[in-house]
Amino acid sequence: MNAKLVERFEGRTAIVTGGGSGIGAALTAALVGVGAQVWCADIDLAAAKAVVSALTGPGSAEAVALDVTDAAAVQILVDDVVARSGKLDLMFNNAGIVIGGETQLLTLEQWNRIIDINIRGVVHGVHAAYPHMIKARSGHIINTASAAGLMASGLLTSYCATKFAVVGLSNALRSEAVRYGVGVTVICPSAVETPILDKGAVGNFAGRDFFLGAEKSKQAYSPERLATEILTAVVKDEPWLVVPRKTRIGWTIGRFAPKFIQNRLTRYIASQSPELARTTSDR
Ligand SMILES: NC(=O)c1ccc[n+]([C@@H]2O[C@H](COP(=O)([O-])OP(=O)(O)OC[C@H]3O[C@@H](n4cnc5c(N)ncnc54)[C@H](O)[C@@H]3O)[C@@H](O)[C@H]2O)c1
Repeated sequence: MNAKLVERFEGRTAIVTGGGSGIGAALTAALVGVGAQVWCADIDLAAAKAVVSALTGPGSAEAVALDVTDAAAVQILVDDVVARSGKLDLMFNNAGIVIGGETQLLTLEQWNRIIDINIRGVVHGVHAAYPHMIKARSGHIINTASAAGLMASGLLTSYCATKFAVVGLSNALRSEAVRYGVGVTVICPSAVETPILDKGAVGNFAGRDFFLGAEKSKQAYSPERLATEILTAVVKDEPWLVVPRKTRIGWTIGRFAPKFIQNRLTRYIASQSPELARTTSDR
């Protein structure tokens, strides 16, 4: 067990949204493993219960049903944790969905759903938890965005739009929250080995193959490894966590040479879709 993480998280209270699967499940396990008290919240209560029942401590976890698009429900959960424990130390706004495919194929219902979960879900978590943290003059908000919130990839237009919003919200909030002793960290990974890689395909979108791209032969990032790195980033009060290294390098280059990265992404998207490839070569 990592002594630094135990020192920082033992006895701390945490809410993890989207805790029933993937990154949220790994975060719940990592937090319980270093002695935290976790509310594992998911729209899929059975999944959250399954995650919690597999954990043995030394911390503890409780499964709760939560739809992050329901602002009142998020507020009730946060207030309940504060009433029962005296404080909420860590708010992980992690629940999210992906929609992949050509933008013209998306219905407005799909646009609204991804905006509701990926943006409003985070807004609801911040709106409910941040005032309690200001009052306590401590706490940390951790928002799961994505590398798609730093570099805009076609065929993920709605997803990128929501994740750029989460990065913007997090960076802006961080700069004003510091005066209250509240930390904010935004998480920006590329493909992580979770069920999301096989969800949300519209039209002929290639899902997992698209996300793994050039890494196709390799494994996506492990959620367990990411969870430990997220906790370490919180200990260090990092503004963001961008992984893996290759993504961090691409992001850094993109800040100095944005057109270079944009052109690379355009070429990659063109290679995925014959229709787009035709448009590109015609120009
Ligand atoms: N896996 C990746 O490659 C990857 C990469 C970058 C960012 N992310 C982000 O990480 C977060 C977690 O994704 P994951 O990969 O673990 O996916 P996942 O599909 O394995 O887990 C997402 C969880 O969120 C829950 N959820 C969905 N809608 C909800 C709602 N309205 N209210 C509450 N819970 C809801 C689902 O039931 C599920 O348990 C998401 O925000 C995702 O965008 C994932």
